[in-house]
Amino acid sequence: MHTSLTPEQERLRDRARELASGEVAARAAEVDRTEEYPWDNVDRLKDAGFIGMTIPKAYGGQGLGYLEAVLAIEEMSKACSVTGRIVVETNMGAISAVMAYGSEEQKRLAAGMVLEGDKPAICITEPEAGSSAGEMTTRADRRGNRYVINGKKHWITGGGVSRLHLIFAKVYDENGVEEGIGGFLAIRDETEGLRIVKREPTMGLRGIPEAEIAFEEMEVPPSALVMPPRGLKKGFADLMNAYNSQRVGAATVALGIAEGAYNLALDWSEKREQFGRPINEFQGLQWKLADMSIQIAAAQALVYKAAASAGPTADGRFPDMVMAAQAKVFTSEMAIRVTNDALQIFGARGYSRNNPVERMVRDARMFTIGGGTAEILRTVVASGILGKKLPQTRDGYLKPRPG
Ligand code: FAD
Ligand code: COA
Repeated sequence: MHTSLTPEQERLRDRARELASGEVAARAAEVDRTEEYPWDNVDRLKDAGFIGMTIPKAYGGQGLGYLEAVLAIEEMSKACSVTGRIVVETNMGAISAVMAYGSEEQKRLAAGMVLEGDKPAICITEPEAGSSAGEMTTRADRRGNRYVINGKKHWITGGGVSRLHLIFAKVYDENGVEEGIGGFLAIRDETEGLRIVKREPTMGLRGIPEAEIAFEEMEVPPSALVMPPRGLKKGFADLMNAYNSQRVGAATVALGIAEGAYNLALDWSEKREQFGRPINEFQGLQWKLADMSIQIAAAQALVYKAAASAGPTADGRFPDMVMAAQAKVFTSEMAIRVTNDALQIFGARGYSRNNPVERMVRDARMFTIGGGTAEILRTVVASGILGKKLPQTRDGYLKPRPG
Protein backbone atom coordinates (compact mmCIF):
# COMPACT_ATOMS: atom_id res chain seq x y z
CA MET A 1 0.00 0.00 0.00
CA HIS A 2 1.22 3.49 -0.86
CA THR A 3 1.36 5.52 2.32
CA SER A 4 0.61 8.95 0.86
CA LEU A 5 -2.75 8.14 -0.74
CA THR A 6 -5.81 9.84 0.71
CA PRO A 7 -8.79 7.69 1.79
CA GLU A 8 -10.66 8.89 -1.36
CA GLN A 9 -7.77 7.82 -3.57
CA GLU A 10 -7.63 4.44 -1.85
CA ARG A 11 -11.35 3.97 -2.44
CA LEU A 12 -10.95 4.90 -6.09
CA ARG A 13 -8.10 2.41 -6.44
CA ASP A 14 -10.15 -0.32 -4.76
CA ARG A 15 -13.08 0.29 -7.13
CA ALA A 16 -10.70 0.08 -10.09
CA ARG A 17 -9.17 -3.11 -8.69
CA GLU A 18 -12.58 -4.72 -8.38
CA LEU A 19 -13.52 -3.95 -11.99
CA ALA A 20 -10.07 -4.95 -13.27
CA SER A 21 -9.85 -8.27 -11.47
CA GLY A 22 -13.40 -9.23 -12.49
CA GLU A 23 -14.84 -8.42 -15.90
CA VAL A 24 -11.72 -6.81 -17.38
CA ALA A 25 -9.41 -9.70 -16.47
CA ALA A 26 -11.91 -12.18 -17.86
CA ARG A 27 -11.79 -10.50 -21.30
CA ALA A 28 -8.03 -9.84 -21.54
CA ALA A 29 -6.94 -13.02 -23.37
CA GLU A 30 -9.78 -12.71 -25.86
CA VAL A 31 -8.97 -9.05 -26.59
CA ASP A 32 -5.40 -10.12 -27.37
CA ARG A 33 -6.46 -13.13 -29.47
CA THR A 34 -9.16 -11.39 -31.52
CA GLU A 35 -7.22 -8.10 -31.80
CA GLU A 36 -10.55 -6.32 -31.45
CA TYR A 37 -10.97 -3.04 -29.63
CA PRO A 38 -12.84 -3.81 -26.37
CA TRP A 39 -15.85 -1.53 -26.73
CA ASP A 40 -17.56 -3.47 -23.91
CA ASN A 41 -14.72 -2.46 -21.57
CA VAL A 42 -15.10 1.15 -22.71
CA ASP A 43 -18.72 0.97 -21.50
CA ARG A 44 -17.59 -0.60 -18.22
CA LEU A 45 -14.99 2.13 -17.70
CA LYS A 46 -17.55 4.80 -18.53
CA ASP A 47 -20.11 3.38 -16.11
CA ALA A 48 -17.50 3.15 -13.36
CA GLY A 49 -16.32 6.75 -13.95
CA PHE A 50 -12.79 6.01 -15.18
CA ILE A 51 -13.18 7.85 -18.49
CA GLY A 52 -12.60 11.61 -18.55
CA MET A 53 -11.77 11.70 -14.82
CA THR A 54 -9.29 14.54 -15.35
CA ILE A 55 -11.72 16.67 -17.37
CA PRO A 56 -12.77 19.69 -15.26
CA LYS A 57 -16.23 19.55 -13.70
CA ALA A 58 -17.36 22.55 -15.77
CA TYR A 59 -17.02 20.33 -18.86
CA GLY A 60 -18.76 17.29 -17.38
CA GLY A 61 -15.72 15.51 -15.95
CA GLN A 62 -14.71 14.89 -12.34
CA GLY A 63 -11.93 17.48 -12.08
CA LEU A 64 -9.50 14.92 -10.66
CA GLY A 65 -5.73 14.91 -10.93
CA TYR A 66 -3.31 12.69 -12.85
CA LEU A 67 -2.57 10.67 -9.70
CA GLU A 68 -6.19 9.50 -9.58
CA ALA A 69 -6.01 8.56 -13.27
CA VAL A 70 -2.75 6.72 -12.59
CA LEU A 71 -4.39 4.63 -9.84
CA ALA A 72 -7.12 3.50 -12.27
CA ILE A 73 -4.64 2.86 -15.12
CA GLU A 74 -2.37 0.80 -12.86
CA GLU A 75 -5.20 -1.47 -11.74
CA MET A 76 -6.60 -1.98 -15.26
CA SER A 77 -3.14 -2.71 -16.65
CA LYS A 78 -2.50 -5.46 -14.10
CA ALA A 79 -5.31 -7.35 -15.84
CA CYS A 80 -5.49 -5.96 -19.39
CA SER A 81 -2.98 -3.46 -20.71
CA VAL A 82 -5.21 -2.49 -23.64
CA THR A 83 -7.90 -1.40 -21.20
CA GLY A 84 -5.22 0.44 -19.20
CA ARG A 85 -4.20 2.32 -22.35
CA ILE A 86 -7.82 3.34 -22.94
CA VAL A 87 -7.85 4.92 -19.48
CA VAL A 88 -4.58 6.71 -20.35
CA GLU A 89 -5.86 8.22 -23.56
CA THR A 90 -9.24 9.26 -22.20
CA ASN A 91 -7.55 11.14 -19.34
CA MET A 92 -4.17 12.28 -20.67
CA GLY A 93 -2.36 13.28 -23.83
CA ALA A 94 -4.60 14.73 -26.55
CA ILE A 95 -7.54 15.42 -24.22
CA SER A 96 -5.23 17.19 -21.73
CA ALA A 97 -3.76 19.30 -24.53
CA VAL A 98 -7.21 20.40 -25.69
CA MET A 99 -8.40 21.14 -22.15
CA ALA A 100 -5.28 23.26 -21.52
CA TYR A 101 -4.89 25.11 -24.81
CA GLY A 102 -8.23 24.82 -26.61
CA SER A 103 -10.97 27.37 -27.20
CA GLU A 104 -14.24 27.06 -25.32
CA GLU A 105 -15.81 25.38 -28.36
CA GLN A 106 -12.92 22.91 -28.72
CA LYS A 107 -12.99 22.01 -25.03
CA ARG A 108 -16.73 21.31 -25.13
CA LEU A 109 -16.35 19.20 -28.26
CA ALA A 110 -13.40 17.14 -26.98
CA ALA A 111 -14.78 16.69 -23.45
CA GLY A 112 -18.16 15.61 -24.85
CA MET A 113 -16.65 13.06 -27.21
CA VAL A 114 -14.32 11.58 -24.59
CA LEU A 115 -17.07 11.33 -21.97
CA GLU A 116 -19.12 9.46 -24.58
CA GLY A 117 -16.26 6.93 -24.78
CA ASP A 118 -14.13 8.18 -27.68
CA LYS A 119 -10.39 7.69 -27.17
CA PRO A 120 -8.77 10.56 -29.09
CA ALA A 121 -5.80 9.83 -31.36
CA ILE A 122 -2.67 11.95 -31.09
CA CYS A 123 -0.91 12.22 -34.44
CA ILE A 124 2.75 13.22 -34.19
CA THR A 125 5.03 10.49 -35.58
CA GLU A 126 5.83 10.24 -39.28
CA PRO A 127 7.80 7.65 -41.24
CA GLU A 128 10.76 10.06 -41.52
CA ALA A 129 10.24 11.89 -38.20
CA GLY A 130 10.09 9.59 -35.16
CA SER A 131 12.42 10.65 -32.35
CA SER A 132 13.12 13.85 -34.26
CA ALA A 133 9.43 14.78 -34.18
CA GLY A 134 10.25 18.42 -34.88
CA GLU A 135 11.27 17.40 -38.39
CA MET A 136 7.70 16.47 -39.33
CA THR A 137 6.72 17.32 -42.90
CA THR A 138 2.93 17.15 -42.61
CA ARG A 139 1.92 20.69 -43.53
CA ALA A 140 -1.06 22.94 -42.97
CA ASP A 141 -1.27 25.69 -45.57
CA ARG A 142 -3.46 28.70 -44.93
CA ARG A 143 -5.68 29.24 -47.97
CA GLY A 144 -8.26 31.97 -47.42
CA ASN A 145 -10.60 30.93 -44.59
CA ARG A 146 -9.23 27.37 -44.45
CA TYR A 147 -6.16 25.35 -43.57
CA VAL A 148 -5.36 22.60 -46.05
CA ILE A 149 -3.47 19.70 -44.47
CA ASN A 150 -1.33 17.21 -46.39
CA GLY A 151 0.98 14.53 -45.04
CA LYS A 152 1.26 11.12 -43.46
CA LYS A 153 1.49 9.85 -39.86
CA HIS A 154 2.15 6.30 -38.71
CA TRP A 155 1.92 4.24 -35.53
CA ILE A 156 -1.11 6.22 -34.47
CA THR A 157 -2.78 4.47 -31.54
CA GLY A 158 -6.49 4.07 -32.13
CA GLY A 159 -6.31 4.79 -35.87
CA GLY A 160 -9.61 3.43 -37.19
CA VAL A 161 -11.42 3.34 -33.82
CA SER A 162 -10.74 6.87 -32.57
CA ARG A 163 -13.00 9.61 -33.91
CA LEU A 164 -11.32 12.71 -32.55
CA HIS A 165 -7.81 13.34 -33.89
CA LEU A 166 -5.27 15.89 -32.68
CA ILE A 167 -2.95 16.32 -35.65
CA PHE A 168 0.39 18.09 -35.56
CA ALA A 169 1.62 19.83 -38.66
CA LYS A 170 3.96 22.57 -39.78
CA VAL A 171 1.86 25.64 -40.37
CA TYR A 172 2.44 27.94 -43.36
CA ASP A 173 0.86 31.35 -43.92
CA GLU A 174 -0.80 32.56 -47.14
CA ASN A 175 2.65 33.40 -48.55
CA GLY A 176 4.11 29.98 -47.81
CA VAL A 177 6.15 31.25 -44.84
CA GLU A 178 6.56 28.67 -42.06
CA GLU A 179 5.11 29.70 -38.69
CA GLY A 180 6.09 26.62 -36.65
CA ILE A 181 4.24 23.50 -35.48
CA GLY A 182 0.56 23.67 -34.57
CA GLY A 183 -2.09 21.12 -33.51
CA PHE A 184 -5.45 20.74 -35.29
CA LEU A 185 -8.62 18.87 -34.38
CA ALA A 186 -10.40 16.72 -36.96
CA ILE A 187 -13.11 14.08 -36.64
CA ARG A 188 -12.78 10.85 -38.62
CA ASP A 189 -15.69 10.22 -40.99
CA GLU A 190 -16.71 13.88 -40.76
CA THR A 191 -13.56 15.32 -42.32
CA GLU A 192 -12.91 14.64 -45.96
CA GLY A 193 -9.29 13.79 -46.69
CA LEU A 194 -8.56 11.97 -43.40
CA ARG A 195 -7.83 8.42 -44.50
CA ILE A 196 -6.84 5.39 -42.39
CA VAL A 197 -4.34 3.72 -44.72
CA LYS A 198 -3.44 0.46 -42.95
CA ARG A 199 -3.15 -1.25 -39.60
CA GLU A 200 0.24 -2.39 -38.34
CA PRO A 201 0.47 -6.02 -37.14
CA THR A 202 1.92 -5.62 -33.64
CA MET A 203 3.82 -7.85 -31.21
CA GLY A 204 1.59 -6.97 -28.26
CA LEU A 205 -1.15 -4.61 -27.10
CA ARG A 206 -3.15 -6.12 -29.93
CA GLY A 207 -6.57 -4.90 -28.93
CA ILE A 208 -5.83 -1.31 -29.99
CA PRO A 209 -5.00 -0.65 -33.63
CA GLU A 210 -1.79 1.13 -34.58
CA ALA A 211 -2.42 2.75 -37.93
CA GLU A 212 -0.95 4.77 -40.72
CA ILE A 213 -3.09 7.82 -41.46
CA ALA A 214 -2.94 10.04 -44.53
CA PHE A 215 -4.17 13.60 -44.81
CA GLU A 216 -4.95 14.41 -48.41
CA GLU A 217 -6.03 17.99 -49.14
CA MET A 218 -7.85 17.82 -45.80
CA GLU A 219 -9.59 21.13 -45.20
CA VAL A 220 -10.27 22.44 -41.70
CA PRO A 221 -11.44 25.87 -40.53
CA PRO A 222 -9.09 28.07 -38.48
CA SER A 223 -11.28 27.25 -35.45
CA ALA A 224 -9.82 23.70 -35.61
CA LEU A 225 -6.40 25.03 -34.62
CA VAL A 226 -5.92 24.08 -30.93
CA MET A 227 -2.28 24.92 -30.46
CA PRO A 228 -1.15 27.85 -32.57
CA PRO A 229 2.42 27.69 -33.90
CA ARG A 230 3.56 30.89 -32.13
CA GLY A 231 7.04 30.93 -33.66
CA LEU A 232 9.24 28.13 -34.89
CA LYS A 233 9.42 26.11 -31.65
CA LYS A 234 6.71 27.43 -29.32
CA GLY A 235 3.67 25.45 -30.51
CA PHE A 236 5.89 22.40 -30.51
CA ALA A 237 7.02 23.12 -26.93
CA ASP A 238 3.34 23.35 -25.88
CA LEU A 239 2.71 20.00 -27.53
CA MET A 240 5.61 18.32 -25.75
CA ASN A 241 4.58 19.91 -22.46
CA ALA A 242 1.10 18.38 -22.76
CA TYR A 243 2.65 15.12 -23.85
CA ASN A 244 4.38 14.75 -20.46
CA SER A 245 1.00 13.61 -19.12
CA GLN A 246 0.83 10.77 -21.63
CA ARG A 247 4.40 9.72 -20.79
CA VAL A 248 3.31 9.26 -17.17
CA GLY A 249 0.30 7.29 -18.41
CA ALA A 250 2.48 5.01 -20.53
CA ALA A 251 4.81 4.45 -17.57
CA THR A 252 1.78 3.49 -15.49
CA VAL A 253 0.62 0.87 -17.98
CA ALA A 254 4.11 -0.68 -17.89
CA LEU A 255 4.00 -0.60 -14.08
CA GLY A 256 0.62 -2.33 -14.01
CA ILE A 257 1.74 -5.04 -16.45
CA ALA A 258 4.81 -5.76 -14.29
CA GLU A 259 2.68 -5.97 -11.16
CA GLY A 260 0.19 -8.28 -12.86
CA ALA A 261 2.98 -10.64 -13.97
CA TYR A 262 4.68 -10.49 -10.56
CA ASN A 263 1.45 -11.37 -8.72
CA LEU A 264 0.90 -14.41 -10.94
CA ALA A 265 4.50 -15.57 -10.50
CA LEU A 266 4.38 -15.10 -6.73
CA ASP A 267 1.24 -17.20 -6.52
CA TRP A 268 2.68 -19.91 -8.78
CA SER A 269 5.92 -20.06 -6.82
CA GLU A 270 3.92 -21.24 -3.81
CA LYS A 271 1.80 -23.77 -5.72
CA ARG A 272 4.48 -25.39 -7.85
CA GLU A 273 6.55 -28.03 -6.15
CA GLN A 274 9.81 -29.56 -7.35
CA PHE A 275 12.28 -31.63 -5.34
CA GLY A 276 9.46 -32.10 -2.84
CA ARG A 277 9.06 -28.42 -1.89
CA PRO A 278 7.46 -25.22 -3.25
CA ILE A 279 9.82 -23.63 -5.76
CA ASN A 280 9.84 -20.41 -3.69
CA GLU A 281 11.90 -22.30 -1.11
CA PHE A 282 14.86 -22.12 -3.51
CA GLN A 283 16.99 -19.09 -2.80
CA GLY A 284 17.54 -18.48 -6.51
CA LEU A 285 13.82 -17.77 -6.93
CA GLN A 286 13.46 -15.97 -3.59
CA TRP A 287 16.01 -13.39 -4.70
CA LYS A 288 14.39 -13.09 -8.11
CA LEU A 289 11.01 -12.39 -6.47
CA ALA A 290 12.64 -9.97 -4.04
CA ASP A 291 14.28 -8.06 -6.90
CA MET A 292 10.99 -7.94 -8.79
CA SER A 293 9.19 -6.48 -5.78
CA ILE A 294 11.96 -3.89 -5.18
CA GLN A 295 11.90 -2.73 -8.80
CA ILE A 296 8.11 -2.47 -8.81
CA ALA A 297 8.09 -0.43 -5.60
CA ALA A 298 10.74 1.94 -6.98
CA ALA A 299 8.87 2.34 -10.26
CA GLN A 300 5.60 3.00 -8.47
CA ALA A 301 7.22 5.75 -6.40
CA LEU A 302 8.60 7.44 -9.54
CA VAL A 303 5.27 7.21 -11.37
CA TYR A 304 3.20 8.57 -8.48
CA LYS A 305 5.67 11.39 -7.92
CA ALA A 306 5.61 12.38 -11.59
CA ALA A 307 1.80 12.26 -11.68
CA ALA A 308 1.48 14.33 -8.50
CA SER A 309 3.95 16.93 -9.82
CA ALA A 310 1.13 18.45 -11.91
CA GLY A 311 -0.79 19.35 -8.74
CA PRO A 312 -4.10 18.11 -7.32
CA THR A 313 -6.13 18.63 -10.52
CA ALA A 314 -5.23 18.29 -14.18
CA ASP A 315 -6.88 21.60 -14.94
CA GLY A 316 -4.48 23.04 -17.53
CA ARG A 317 -1.43 21.58 -15.79
CA PHE A 318 1.02 18.87 -16.78
CA PRO A 319 3.52 16.64 -15.00
CA ASP A 320 7.11 17.82 -14.76
CA MET A 321 9.12 17.00 -17.90
CA VAL A 322 12.11 15.42 -16.14
CA MET A 323 10.05 13.44 -13.61
CA ALA A 324 7.83 12.09 -16.40
CA ALA A 325 10.88 11.01 -18.39
CA GLN A 326 12.58 9.45 -15.34
CA ALA A 327 9.43 7.50 -14.53
CA LYS A 328 8.97 6.25 -18.08
CA VAL A 329 12.60 5.19 -18.61
CA PHE A 330 12.82 3.27 -15.34
CA THR A 331 9.37 1.71 -15.46
CA SER A 332 9.45 0.66 -19.12
CA GLU A 333 12.81 -1.10 -18.70
CA MET A 334 11.74 -2.58 -15.35
CA ALA A 335 8.57 -4.04 -16.92
CA ILE A 336 10.59 -5.88 -19.56
CA ARG A 337 12.82 -7.45 -16.87
CA VAL A 338 10.01 -8.27 -14.45
CA THR A 339 7.65 -9.83 -17.00
CA ASN A 340 10.52 -11.96 -18.31
CA ASP A 341 11.42 -13.07 -14.78
CA ALA A 342 7.77 -13.93 -14.15
CA LEU A 343 7.69 -16.07 -17.28
CA GLN A 344 10.87 -17.83 -16.13
CA ILE A 345 9.28 -18.71 -12.80
CA PHE A 346 6.48 -20.51 -14.65
CA GLY A 347 8.96 -22.67 -16.57
CA ALA A 348 7.46 -24.17 -19.75
CA ARG A 349 3.98 -23.13 -18.66
CA GLY A 350 5.04 -19.49 -18.98
CA TYR A 351 5.82 -20.02 -22.64
CA SER A 352 2.28 -21.12 -23.40
CA ARG A 353 -0.14 -18.72 -25.03
CA ASN A 354 -2.66 -20.01 -22.50
CA ASN A 355 -0.70 -18.22 -19.77
CA PRO A 356 -1.40 -14.47 -19.30
CA VAL A 357 2.30 -13.93 -18.56
CA GLU A 358 3.16 -14.72 -22.18
CA ARG A 359 0.89 -11.84 -23.26
CA MET A 360 2.33 -9.56 -20.59
CA VAL A 361 5.89 -10.12 -21.89
CA ARG A 362 4.76 -9.06 -25.38
CA ASP A 363 2.70 -6.11 -24.11
CA ALA A 364 5.50 -4.77 -21.89
CA ARG A 365 8.00 -4.64 -24.73
CA MET A 366 6.46 -1.53 -26.28
CA PHE A 367 7.02 1.01 -23.53
CA THR A 368 10.72 1.71 -24.14
CA ILE A 369 9.69 2.80 -27.66
CA GLY A 370 6.26 4.46 -27.93
CA GLY A 371 5.86 7.92 -26.43
CA GLY A 372 9.55 8.76 -26.69
CA THR A 373 12.22 6.04 -26.63
CA ALA A 374 14.24 5.29 -23.50
CA GLU A 375 17.28 6.76 -25.27
CA ILE A 376 15.53 10.04 -26.11
CA LEU A 377 14.07 10.28 -22.61
CA ARG A 378 17.53 9.85 -21.09
CA THR A 379 18.54 12.88 -23.13
CA VAL A 380 15.53 14.76 -21.75
CA VAL A 381 16.60 13.84 -18.20
CA ALA A 382 20.23 14.77 -18.92
CA SER A 383 19.15 18.12 -20.36
CA GLY A 384 17.09 18.79 -17.21
CA ILE A 385 19.71 17.81 -14.64
CA LEU A 386 22.54 19.53 -16.50
CA GLY A 387 20.46 22.61 -17.19
CA LYS A 388 21.67 22.61 -20.81
CA LYS A 389 20.02 22.42 -24.20
CA LEU A 390 21.27 19.21 -25.81
CA PRO A 391 20.56 19.50 -29.53
CA GLN A 392 20.92 16.15 -31.27
CA THR A 393 21.54 17.42 -34.78
CA ARG A 394 25.09 17.03 -36.09
CA ASP A 395 25.51 20.80 -36.44
CA GLY A 396 23.82 21.49 -33.09
CA TYR A 397 27.10 22.32 -31.35
CA LEU A 398 28.75 24.23 -34.18
CA LYS A 399 29.63 27.71 -33.07
CA PRO A 400 28.74 30.54 -35.46
CA ARG A 401 31.67 31.14 -37.81
CA PRO A 402 33.64 34.23 -36.92
CA GLY A 403 32.94 37.17 -39.23
P1 FAD B 1 13.63 6.24 -34.45
O1 FAD B 1 13.47 7.66 -34.07
O2 FAD B 1 13.93 5.90 -35.86
O3 FAD B 1 14.71 5.59 -33.49
C1 FAD B 1 15.41 4.37 -33.80
C2 FAD B 1 16.41 4.11 -32.69
O4 FAD B 1 17.36 5.19 -32.65
C3 FAD B 1 15.75 4.07 -31.29
O5 FAD B 1 16.38 3.11 -30.50
C4 FAD B 1 16.02 5.46 -30.75
O6 FAD B 1 16.03 5.54 -29.34
C5 FAD B 1 17.41 5.75 -31.34
N1 FAD B 1 17.67 7.18 -31.42
C6 FAD B 1 17.10 8.10 -32.25
N2 FAD B 1 17.58 9.33 -31.99
C7 FAD B 1 18.46 9.19 -30.97
C8 FAD B 1 19.28 10.10 -30.22
N3 FAD B 1 19.30 11.40 -30.48
N4 FAD B 1 20.05 9.58 -29.22
C9 FAD B 1 20.06 8.25 -28.94
N5 FAD B 1 19.30 7.35 -29.61
C10 FAD B 1 18.51 7.83 -30.60
N6 FAD B 1 3.28 8.12 -32.33
C11 FAD B 1 2.26 9.04 -32.38
O7 FAD B 1 2.44 10.13 -32.90
N7 FAD B 1 1.04 8.75 -31.88
C12 FAD B 1 0.76 7.57 -31.30
O8 FAD B 1 -0.37 7.34 -30.86
C13 FAD B 1 1.80 6.59 -31.20
N8 FAD B 1 1.56 5.39 -30.66
C14 FAD B 1 2.52 4.41 -30.69
C15 FAD B 1 2.19 3.13 -30.25
C16 FAD B 1 3.12 2.11 -30.35
C17 FAD B 1 2.72 0.73 -29.95
C18 FAD B 1 4.44 2.38 -30.85
C19 FAD B 1 5.45 1.28 -30.93
C20 FAD B 1 4.76 3.66 -31.28
C21 FAD B 1 3.80 4.68 -31.22
N9 FAD B 1 4.07 5.97 -31.71
C22 FAD B 1 3.07 6.91 -31.76
C23 FAD B 1 5.34 6.25 -32.32
C24 FAD B 1 6.47 6.47 -31.32
O9 FAD B 1 6.32 7.66 -30.62
C25 FAD B 1 7.80 6.40 -32.07
O10 FAD B 1 7.98 5.05 -32.44
C26 FAD B 1 8.99 6.88 -31.25
O11 FAD B 1 8.92 8.26 -31.02
C27 FAD B 1 10.34 6.52 -31.92
O12 FAD B 1 10.34 6.86 -33.28
P2 FAD B 1 10.82 5.77 -34.36
O13 FAD B 1 10.03 4.53 -34.14
O14 FAD B 1 10.74 6.42 -35.70
O15 FAD B 1 12.31 5.43 -34.00
N1 COA C 1 8.12 19.00 -21.96
C1 COA C 1 8.12 20.35 -22.06
N2 COA C 1 8.79 21.00 -23.04
C2 COA C 1 9.49 20.25 -23.90
C3 COA C 1 9.54 18.85 -23.84
C4 COA C 1 8.81 18.23 -22.83
N3 COA C 1 8.76 16.88 -22.72
N4 COA C 1 10.30 18.38 -24.85
C5 COA C 1 10.74 19.46 -25.52
N5 COA C 1 10.25 20.58 -24.95
C6 COA C 1 10.47 21.97 -25.37
C7 COA C 1 11.94 22.33 -25.27
O1 COA C 1 12.27 22.81 -23.98
C8 COA C 1 12.05 23.42 -26.33
O2 COA C 1 11.49 24.62 -25.83
P1 COA C 1 12.34 25.98 -25.91
O3 COA C 1 12.63 26.15 -27.36
O4 COA C 1 11.40 26.99 -25.33
O5 COA C 1 13.56 25.72 -25.09
C9 COA C 1 11.08 22.94 -27.41
O6 COA C 1 10.17 22.06 -26.75
C10 COA C 1 11.78 22.15 -28.50
O7 COA C 1 12.54 21.14 -27.89
P2 COA C 1 13.98 20.71 -28.42
O8 COA C 1 14.56 19.72 -27.47
O9 COA C 1 14.78 21.93 -28.74
O10 COA C 1 13.51 20.03 -29.77
P3 COA C 1 14.24 19.16 -30.84
O11 COA C 1 13.88 19.71 -32.14
O12 COA C 1 15.67 18.89 -30.50
O13 COA C 1 13.39 17.81 -30.66
C11 COA C 1 12.29 16.19 -29.24
C12 COA C 1 13.60 16.89 -29.62
C13 COA C 1 11.50 17.06 -28.30
C14 COA C 1 11.46 15.87 -30.45
C15 COA C 1 12.70 14.88 -28.58
O14 COA C 1 13.36 15.17 -27.37
C16 COA C 1 11.53 13.99 -28.26
O15 COA C 1 10.88 14.12 -27.24
N6 COA C 1 11.28 12.98 -29.16
C17 COA C 1 10.26 11.97 -28.95
C18 COA C 1 8.96 12.39 -29.58
C19 COA C 1 7.81 11.67 -28.94
O16 COA C 1 7.73 11.51 -27.74
N7 COA C 1 6.89 11.22 -29.74
C20 COA C 1 5.77 10.53 -29.21
C21 COA C 1 4.65 10.54 -30.19
S1 COA C 1 3.29 9.64 -29.56
